[in-house]
Amino acid sequence: MDEYDTLIVGTPIWGGHLTPAMKSFLAGYDLSGKYIAPFCTHGGSGTAQSVSDIRSVCPNSTILGSLAVYGSQAENSRGDVEKWLEQIGILKNN
Ligand SMILES: Cc1cc2nc3c(=O)[nH]c(=O)nc-3n(C[C@H](O)[C@H](O)[C@H](O)COP(=O)(O)O)c2cc1C
Repeated sequence: MDEYDTLIVGTPIWGGHLTPAMKSFLAGYDLSGKYIAPFCTHGGSGTAQSVSDIRSVCPNSTILGSLAVYGSQAENSRGDVEKWLEQIGILKNN
């Protein structure tokens, strides 16, 4: 993890929250000073509490803008993903 400055963190939304597995994963590292780009798939709730969950588990990280994708539309979301990555400065559009 020391090799990374930015993490792109994806989760399905369960009960309005980050999944327990992703919460445990994030809690297992000291992510202080790192950038976190959150995205989720969902069935209608959007990001719900997932971004604030990440903020709670990673209080010393900078949380970048998030992306929410309907699970049923995930395979058609390439354009949205690219736009999001450009907006948060990860993908450079030459
Ligand atoms: C246990 C469980 C809880 C869920 N809770 C929510 C929810 O609170 N809000 C929502 O929009 N979708 C909810 N969903 C739908 C999932 O977010 C959706 O199916 C998932 O993002 C699609 O990704 P997958 O194909 O990897 O499962 C839930 C699904 C499961 C299995």
